[in-house]
This record gives sequence, structure tokens and C-alpha cells, in this order.
Amino acid sequence: MSHSAEPLPMSARRSGPLTGEARVPGDKSISHRALILGALSVGETRITGLLEGQDVLDTAAAMRAFGASVERLAEGEWRVNGVGIGGFAEPEGVIDCGNSGTGVRLIMGAMATTPITATFTGDASLSRRPMGRITDPLEMFGCEVTAREGKRLPVTIRGAADPVPLRYRTPVASAQIKSAVLLAGLNAPGETVVIEAEPTRDHTERMLAGFGAKIVTETTDEGHVITLKGRPNLRPQPIAVPRDPSSAAFPVAAALIVPGSEIRVPGVSRNPTRDGLYVTLLEMGADIRFENERVEGGEPVADLVVRHGPLKGVTVPPGRAASMIDEFPILSVIAAFAEGTTVMQGVHELRVKESDRIEAMAVGLRANGASVEDSEDTMIVHGTGGLKGGATAQSHLDHRIAMSFLVAGLASEQPIGVDDAGPIATSFPDFLPLMRGLGAEIG
Ligand code: S3P
Repeated sequence: MSHSAEPLPMSARRSGPLTGEARVPGDKSISHRALILGALSVGETRITGLLEGQDVLDTAAAMRAFGASVERLAEGEWRVNGVGIGGFAEPEGVIDCGNSGTGVRLIMGAMATTPITATFTGDASLSRRPMGRITDPLEMFGCEVTAREGKRLPVTIRGAADPVPLRYRTPVASAQIKSAVLLAGLNAPGETVVIEAEPTRDHTERMLAGFGAKIVTETTDEGHVITLKGRPNLRPQPIAVPRDPSSAAFPVAAALIVPGSEIRVPGVSRNPTRDGLYVTLLEMGADIRFENERVEGGEPVADLVVRHGPLKGVTVPPGRAASMIDEFPILSVIAAFAEGTTVMQGVHELRVKESDRIEAMAVGLRANGASVEDSEDTMIVHGTGGLKGGATAQSHLDHRIAMSFLVAGLASEQPIGVDDAGPIATSFPDFLPLMRGLGAEIG
């Protein structure tokens, strides 16, 4: 669904201590994959804890358009009856993935080796984002692609009737590229191999293995080498989606910067390919405890206990970027409240997210009194232990930018506004009631 709703301005102001439990929504990456793999299996996949944000709802609608039955049974509880690998039907209409890069890119991969034609579109943000990084490798499987100037949406894919397997080295660290190639490889004979220089989130590999595919990851001189045997018999599995560490980052950040706060965030995924923000926060001196560490649905999970306290600036090395790629906007806010300089290196991919996140954060933070330097690949925040506030930041159709500035406003001297909080519904529909429940003054 493309969103043409009126902008929803919102602002946050200095709040008293935040306390209580923050039950953040299900992991967005895992939710997309659960629906897509469910649709590619024959039989019934039961999902609990599914994120019911707009991005994932758009993927659910897409899976229905390709012929799967996708039903909501109760809150977070969904049932998918899949059509099997190669079983996708040709959709009657255009597949609108709204704001979701993960949705559109993974679904393109999932259909590219089935001989059907589909056209993909999205909102203004998604229509600006590069799709060549996905369609280039998909063409090597034998599908035909037509795209707008700059390989952007709308994109039409005529799936390969006789796909060939692929050995592909990803040009940038991207789980979306890796996953699109692996999903396309499901319906190719032989072995599809993806090689990545830096490990990226591995939910696709974990879930494919859980569904019975033969998939092996090795670390070699070439990098991370993932080998998938094509045309497996995917067996539906119950999927318990853990809570999203990228969404947890917002209440966690709020508790760290609002004096006197102590909150608990239960059941958050601690997958090491997603853990970079938490590693960084501990280096900054954050008071975070990980309790009840356990494995749920194939993913490591813990309850987080977070307390306000002093923080210091750190350097985040480029090798950590992939494991916290969605967390740099909120880290730049936390960095402004720390003492000293935080340097974020190797962050060029932020320029092609839902917005140019380096630009969006640098401009909004400066307007609110922070000292920020940025270059193509680096962002530097000179923290002073606080933030003046008083300005309205633009969210640029980007949920994480909107949430980052609202969190900043909870501890700044003057309130901080965002021009449009509407996009928050893509990943964290209950952000407002959840934050207010902790004591945050947002509205
Ligand atoms: C995602 C991968 C990342 C991330 C996105 C979710 C995924 O994108 O930013 O929010 O679920 O695979 P890239 O693959 O472009 O790094």
C-alpha cells in the first residue's frame, strides 16, 4: 500500500523518569521471511508474534496476490497455506510494497525463477531506492527485468522458465541482496552460492534450514560463503517471531538519556548479526543487563534491563556497521547526550535507506543544537551531555528518523518535533502508546 495520508506532526518534550515494561513488536526482518517462506512451502505455517506493521501487511497482501492463503487468526497470530517452490501464480494487479525495501526485494527474489510476470511498485521513498542491486543478480538466473531510469521502481520481472543456479559475491553488505539471491536459488537446479565480505543478518539462512533446506555457511578466505541446494522440499514450521532489537532500540535509548529511568524490554532477539548497537552501548558505558538468555524459535533471545546513566563517546568501526545498520539514527541521538565524540565509520549504506539517514539526522540534530560532521561514509557527533532542542525535524517518510527525533525530545531542554510521524506505523504501530505507558510526553 502506498501511503498518501496527510502528514502527522508530533512532538516530544522533556519527561520524568521512564519506568515499566516495553513490549516491543515482532522482528520486522523475521516477519517478512516467515510470510514468504510460508508461501513457498506446501501446507500450513503457523506464525506467532508477527509484526503487524504496514511493511509486513504489504508483504502478506503480496503473498495472497501470488496465490498463497494468508489469514490473521488473532493479534500477531497468522496462518499461511503455501503453494510450494515454483508454485506462485501470476498476480492480477501490481504488487505495491509501500515503504518496504525488504518486502519488495525479497519478493522479487522469491518470484524471479518462476515463469510468471509481476510488476512491483512502492511509495515515494521506495521509488527512489536502488533496485539494480537486486535485479542485476536476478537477471543472471535468467529472468527479464524492465525498470524505470536508474533501475528504480516500478519494476517488472518476467520470471525465468529455465533458471540456472548462481554463484554471486554481493557488492555491498546487504542481507536483502543475499536473501533475494537465496530465495531465487530455491527454484534453480544445483547449488546457488552467495559470498559476502562481511556477515549480514542471517534470518533467511536460519529459517530455510528450519524448513528443511540444505544450506551451509562457511567462513573461508573469500569471506562468508553460503551454499543452498536448489529445489528443496520445504516443510512448514511453526515460527515464533522474537521481538525486534531494532525497535527495542528506541525505548532503550529513551531510558538511557532520560534521567532516573529504568525499564525492562522482554524477549528481544540477540542474534549476533543484529547486536552491534548493544555492543556499542556497552562500550559507551550504558547500564544494560541481559537476563534470561534463551533460544526461542531458533533465535537467541533475552530480557533487557536498562537504566539511565552517564555515557561517553566511542568509535564504531566499519566492520560493525552491518550488525547495526538500522540503529545509526538512534545512536546519533544517544551520542549527542553522551560526553565526547562518537565516530560512526563505514556507514555509506545509510544514504540509500528509507531516506538518506546521514543527511536527515545531521540536519535535524544540528537544527536542535548538536555539533555533527558528516561525509559520504562517516558520521561524527560531538556529544555535550545534552541537547538544546526547539526545532522540528523532517522525517522524510522514514520511520526510524521520526522515532529518533521523538526520543531525542524526551531529554532535550526544549521540545523536538517531527513533521510527520505517520511512517512509524510501518515498523512500530504501537510506538506512541508504548512510549506514553513508560511516561514519555509525546503527542
Ligand atoms: C534487512 C536488511 C537491511 C536492513 C533492513 C532489513 C533485511 O537492509 O536495513 O531494514 O530484513 O534483510 P540491507 O540489506 O539493504 O542492508
